[in-house]
Amino acid sequence: MNRDDFLMLNRDIIYFDNGATTLKPKCLVDGISDYYNNYSANAHRGDYDISLKVDMMYEHTRDLVRDLIGACDSSEIVFTSGTTDSLNKIIFGYFRDKLVSGDEVILTRAEHASNVLPWFELKDELDLKLSYISLNDDYEVTLDSVKESITDKTRVISIAHISNVVGDIRPIKDIINYAHSKGIIVIVDGAQSVPHVPIDVVDMDIDFLAFSLHKMCGPTGVGVLYGKKELLSNIKPLIYGGGMNASFSDDGVRVYKELPHLLEAGTPNIADVIASGKVIEYLNNIGLDKISSYEYALKKYAVEKLSMNPNIIIYNKNSKSGIVTFNYKDVFAQDLAIYLNKYNICVRAGNHCAKILKEELKVKNTCRISFYFYNTFDEIDRLCEVLNNPNIKDEIIG
Ligand code: ALA
Repeated sequence: MNRDDFLMLNRDIIYFDNGATTLKPKCLVDGISDYYNNYSANAHRGDYDISLKVDMMYEHTRDLVRDLIGACDSSEIVFTSGTTDSLNKIIFGYFRDKLVSGDEVILTRAEHASNVLPWFELKDELDLKLSYISLNDDYEVTLDSVKESITDKTRVISIAHISNVVGDIRPIKDIINYAHSKGIIVIVDGAQSVPHVPIDVVDMDIDFLAFSLHKMCGPTGVGVLYGKKELLSNIKPLIYGGGMNASFSDDGVRVYKELPHLLEAGTPNIADVIASGKVIEYLNNIGLDKISSYEYALKKYAVEKLSMNPNIIIYNKNSKSGIVTFNYKDVFAQDLAIYLNKYNICVRAGNHCAKILKEELKVKNTCRISFYFYNTFDEIDRLCEVLNNPNIKDEIIG
């Protein structure tokens, strides 16, 4: 789908590492050049036409993000540098002042480092309790396992919508519904879901959502923090400076701006935010429904074809997103990735930043294929041809 929009696809490569970052369409690059070539003023600071155009374009992207995730109001959308930044702002900006010793936060062992390490830090600082929702035999989260994990001390559930390793789509709406009945706030790491499936934060009743534009054809260095207004208005900025204050005087009296500017101190990543708007329009034109069903079709096909090779171990046959995680029997994952690179096939190998998932998977390193809409069934055939080489182990191990 839409392969002509991606200059990198003119080369002889098979790019299967979209969970790490996606390729970039021409509209993104054009949007960035247009800003730098034609109206490269600062945002929210000038009273001249060029600067007003920047303000309008920058805020237009915010409106597009609002509509993409079905938020009620643009002031609930804060631009950050990425999912990691968004999660840190939520965890330290909101929860540091709200949680007390003994309060419990629930995660899963499949979470990305960005949704684990900030909690480890806050746990040590506030003497919190952290626990993990148990995963089923397919490494999935079920509503029942969430219910079993909750205690009367649970205050927060912080989980990915789609895991970046096993690609299971968590029943977020049901989890949130149940959590709210117990007064628990839910943070959703949408890094692997917002680029791939339709999201409606109001329908799903999401409290906080974090995601990155670079995983959805956008630029690196732009992320989104969504929070319900009543929660976001209680978040404390972690960064202070220009752009977030209305006034201050030498006796320390200061007045800060309202949301979302309160949380966007300093000159923002203007070119990339504006160009992110072009990318959101681009994805809307394709349709997230179409993207998610196509990626799942690719995943099912890949599982079917890879399963024909008795040396391939697939860890997530049943997950319903576009991620396939596998190993080749008795071959170290990184060695296999390096071998595939000889054929210009790009996959990620390792622990995928989910370093405690090994307790559940019983294996430390895996190879991961993560599809996007420009991947094809032919590319999967090519991968399988390479993996079906009867001499592959000798060629890798030597
Ligand atoms: N979080 C990114 C991944 O899963 C980098 O590859």
